[in-house]
Amino acid sequence: MATLAELTRQNTVLSKEEVGHLQRLVADWGMLADFCFADMLLHVRALEGPGDARWLVVDQVRPATAQTLHIRDWIGSWERDSDRPLLNEAYEGGEVIEGVVDIDGVAGPVQMTAIPVRHEGRVIAVLTREWSEQKGRQPGLLERTYLSIFARFASMISAGLFPFSGRQGSITAAPRVGDGAIVLDAGARVQFASPNAVSALHRVGITANVLGLGLAELGFNDAAVRSAFDRCEPVLEESDQPSDITMLEYCIPILEHDQAAPGGITVTGGVLLLRDVTELRRRDRLLLSKDATIREIHHRVKNNLQTISSLLRLQARRLTSDEAKAAVNESVRRIRTIALVHETLSREPGDDVAFIEIVRPLLRLAEEGYQSPDRPVRFTVQGDGGKLPATIATPLSVVLTELLQNAVDHEFPLGSTGGQVKVVLANQAGTLRIRVIDDGLGVPADFEISSANGLGLTIVRTLVTTELGGTIEMRQGRNEDFADAGITPPARGTGTVVDLTVPIGESEPL
Ligand SMILES: Nc1ncnc2c1ncn2[C@@H]1O[C@H](COP(=O)(O)OP(=O)(O)OP(=O)(O)O)[C@@H](O)[C@H]1O
Ligand SMILES: [Mg+2]
Repeated sequence: MATLAELTRQNTVLSKEEVGHLQRLVADWGMLADFCFADMLLHVRALEGPGDARWLVVDQVRPATAQTLHIRDWIGSWERDSDRPLLNEAYEGGEVIEGVVDIDGVAGPVQMTAIPVRHEGRVIAVLTREWSEQKGRQPGLLERTYLSIFARFASMISAGLFPFSGRQGSITAAPRVGDGAIVLDAGARVQFASPNAVSALHRVGITANVLGLGLAELGFNDAAVRSAFDRCEPVLEESDQPSDITMLEYCIPILEHDQAAPGGITVTGGVLLLRDVTELRRRDRLLLSKDATIREIHHRVKNNLQTISSLLRLQARRLTSDEAKAAVNESVRRIRTIALVHETLSREPGDDVAFIEIVRPLLRLAEEGYQSPDRPVRFTVQGDGGKLPATIATPLSVVLTELLQNAVDHEFPLGSTGGQVKVVLANQAGTLRIRVIDDGLGVPADFEISSANGLGLTIVRTLVTTELGGTIEMRQGRNEDFADAGITPPARGTGTVVDLTVPIGESEPL
């Protein structure tokens, strides 16, 4: 669809400044359509050809406060026959005029207000408001007030006072009329407040009748209104109001030419649109701090887990039974593993961790826990697992710890010469594959992990199959396994291969 800038460049001789004026007009005209409960079209006079000048629709807006008349998009189309006299008259006379037109596809006569758009004293376009009595709203106080506001804006447009010429920030975020509108008189006293505006004032704690009073008298922070009235230009700003409410306000002064006034312009009133954005801002702040908070929580969880493991270690020392000591020390080890995951999470932004950042310290822990210098065991890792969500990384770390511990406990007994334990990670097509291979004694040939009933493998089975929805296999090592892993096959025993697959969905590479 062609833009206003393109359409005017291709079809008119309007200057850059003039096009800029039209662009500022359409930037703000959602408010106008809302105040007049009607569709609006912006027409420009196309390059003079033979015969009459033609009118081109360069932009269109529909009201948020009423039913639209135009199902069709008119942008880029030439004027309808019945529009031409009104458009010409508004253009030539320079005054706002009313008339009746026929529009294809709309039953009955359509009312049209044609407003000349003046810039630097010259009419450069015509804005039309189009509505049908049949589709109009029942006129009440709100409707009458809004229409009279619209009429004042229409006068400003034809007098060249609207849109405002100054630099304007982005007003796309500005509140709309439907959010809450307050009409102010020349002294910035409330003349009218829409039901939504009254509700907004209630939230700020203003329940008194507001009519005839200044907003500041009511206890409302009226900084936006004051600066809009002082500077004779619209002000969009967010203000802190009583009751911890954050209000987004858009105040548009209504101006008139007045020779007696300084600058030749006087403020005859204003419109304040307002929206309660407290909840929005609270969520913004929450989002900003969410990441930091999550990391802080992981840090605290890690500290708490370390405290628990220290307490358990103290307790283990006081125990006399070796079996009890070993059991408590196992728990200490498991808790330390989980603490490690939280430590990693506390360092990384977001909920995902680079799995390798957890695997490396796990291998170090296993190495430290293996205290038999006479038969050294090397722990290494190959590949990385990509980034994993904490919900997968945590149980997987516990699983890995058990597997490494089993290698330490069962593969290199007294009398062996030590060896290697290698973890191979591969993250492909939504599946994480982990292989733990060692060149130790090996599990028995008929070993079945499903029937192993130690606590370690029970934890592994439960976490992998139930929690992670994955698979696990455990068997003796074969020559090709060792070749794949780059390990020389064991001289004694068969070594063990543990294969895990875990579905992880889509994961980002590191
Ligand atoms: N890598 C391995 N090599 C050889 N045997 C193993 C290996 N892993 C497990 N096993 C055998 O499976 C049994 C069950 O292992 P599991 O980890 O469940 O219990 P555990 O190691 O005996 O005790 P814990 O509960 O402290 O881990 C072990 O006792 C061991 O006989
Ligand atoms: Mg074990």
